[in-house]
Amino acid sequence: LRAELAGRNGSENTDPSRTGPSRTVALVPTMGALHEGHLALVERARELADVVVVSIFVNPLQFGPEEDLDKYPRDLGGDLDALAPHGVGYVFAPTAAEMYPDGDTGTKVTGGEVANLLEGRTRPGHFDGVLTVVAKLLGIVRPDVVLFGQKDAQQVFLVQRMVADLNFATRVEVVDTVRAPDGLALSSRNRYLNPDERRAALALSRALEAAASASDRGIDAVLAAAQSVLMDERLVKLDYLKVVNPRTFLPVDDGYRGPARVVIAARVGPARLIDNDAIYLN
Ligand code: PAJ
Repeated sequence: LRAELAGRNGSENTDPSRTGPSRTVALVPTMGALHEGHLALVERARELADVVVVSIFVNPLQFGPEEDLDKYPRDLGGDLDALAPHGVGYVFAPTAAEMYPDGDTGTKVTGGEVANLLEGRTRPGHFDGVLTVVAKLLGIVRPDVVLFGQKDAQQVFLVQRMVADLNFATRVEVVDTVRAPDGLALSSRNRYLNPDERRAALALSRALEAAASASDRGIDAVLAAAQSVLMDERLVKLDYLKVVNPRTFLPVDDGYRGPARVVIAARVGPARLIDNDAIYLN
């Protein structure tokens, strides 16, 4: 969709001084319905490479049978408009039939034990779908660097491990979670929320703040502080609240000291929301 983008931008998208045989390429994989969180990845990509490729593909392989694949917001025109001022060279927006000519892949990338915990426990097969499509996108685009948002912390962990385990010739760059001014992590699924649910959804980021404030009192205090914030919100149906070791993404044992990550998932009205933050247990 290079010509389409150039038209919206009113100019060429690639800086001519940065063309030539040794241009570096950054890939930002997305499912579209782009918001400022995605655009932060694009901006970082621009700093890191000569040419930025954004993929837009609602990947059927990572949606469960009861999930929102059909309802997932799709707006390619709006996405191209959103990308136009950001110096994107190429948008790769394949159809499902182009990505999966046989309806599925015979080969799958699986993420092991971690892929079946937390998000993977509630969404069986989700991460195999993510890893398989990311592997395909890396094979198609062959970027020097691929960018992911910390908002999907478990996805970041599993992609980093896949890239290391399978020796993909790409570097993984992680970008901090972009939040609304009131703290809510931006997500394409936030548009499912009505005003009451939108207000209730703030419990996730408030719970992370409470967890961080309690971190010098140990893991039990961290969990209790976050839990009490989440339980106070009637519209929030907690799925999980855990503290994980960032090196393994497995829940930390009692007495663990060092860097950790608090991860939360909850259903708020029709939306399933996730959030996470780093803490230090000492
Ligand atoms: P999607 O949900 O569209 O997200 C695309 C990228 O944007 C992911 O790396 C995600 O972590 C990042 N992102 C989303 N919201 C963000 C926020 N508020 N702040 C920072 N980054 C944010 O994640 C996927 O798509 C898919 O699983 C994909 C990797 C494209 C594979 O299909």
